[in-house]
Amino acid sequence: MKKKYLIPITVLAFALAITVLSGYSQEDVRFVQDSAFGKKMRPPVYFAHDEHNEKAGIEDCHYCHHSYENGEKTEDESSDKECSECHMADGKGNKASLARVYHLCCKGCHEQAKAGPVMCAECHNKTKAGVFAK
Ligand code: HEC
Ligand code: HEC
Ligand code: HEC
Ligand code: HEC
Repeated sequence: MKKKYLIPITVLAFALAITVLSGYSQEDVRFVQDSAFGKKMRPPVYFAHDEHNEKAGIEDCHYCHHSYENGEKTEDESSDKECSECHMADGKGNKASLARVYHLCCKGCHEQAKAGPVMCAECHNKTKAGVFAK
């Protein structure tokens, strides 16, 4: 291969890699899909991550992606982890408790803020999530 093609090809490969990788960023999250739930009873939960957080005015990532040390919440965020990495691991492996923390987090704030959905089908909504087969 001629040398002069090498640079454009490398640049192209990088651009492609970045596009592919950013496909996994929070910008594209349209629904919550924690891998710890096996067979689900409810449709996926609609959650347009960035849009939601902007509208709701939540600036701190660690509001949801939190970390604790000695029982105290810290300033560190944990967005590199799924909620279930901590919330299932704590003992009984009880799926209900993971659903419970999601409900406490999402519904809890909506109830307090008197804004955002609190009805099952407003969150568990495959049409909104853009997922038609499941
Ligand atoms: C209102 C709660 C909330 C806030 C605030 C929030 N996130 Fe998230 N984030 C979530 C949930 C829920 C998921 C999906 C978890 C899952 O499906 O396992 C998620 C997923 C992610 C993911 C993983 C994306 C993927 O494809 O799996 C990243 C990265 C992320 N968030 C980063 C951030 C950053 C950075 C901020 C702050 C700018 C932030 N989040 C603020 C709730 C939140
Ligand atoms: C790095 C570990 C870790 C991650 C990741 C994590 N948490 Fe937590 N979370 C904790 C710890 C520790 C506590 C405090 C002890 C407890 O209540 O289980 C806690 C507490 C909570 C509580 C309060 C529980 C109660 O009974 O009042 C909620 C709600 C919650 N987490 C939701 C979430 C959600 C939603 C996610 C994902 C966006 C998440 N957590 C990710 C460790 C984590
Ligand atoms: C700290 C508070 C807070 C938390 C935590 C939170 N929300 Fe919300 N949410 C809001 C507020 C405020 C609104 C109303 C925003 C508006 O439209 O003005 C809202 C609106 C929504 C809406 C309707 C608006 C839209 O984006 O279409 C959905 C769906 C939603 N939330 C889902 C969730 C889910 C799922 C979670 C948990 C992963 C969650 N929310 C966590 C505050 C919160
Ligand atoms: C504010 C949004 C919200 C509302 C309202 C809500 N949920 Fe959820 N629920 C969630 C989130 C987020 C999860 C985690 C989903 C995932 O990771 O796939 C969840 C998980 C679950 C799960 C475990 C996963 C599954 O599908 O088996 C069940 C069961 C469930 N919810 C039932 C309900 C029922 C019943 C209601 C109404 C009483 C309800 N939820 C209302 C957000 C919500």
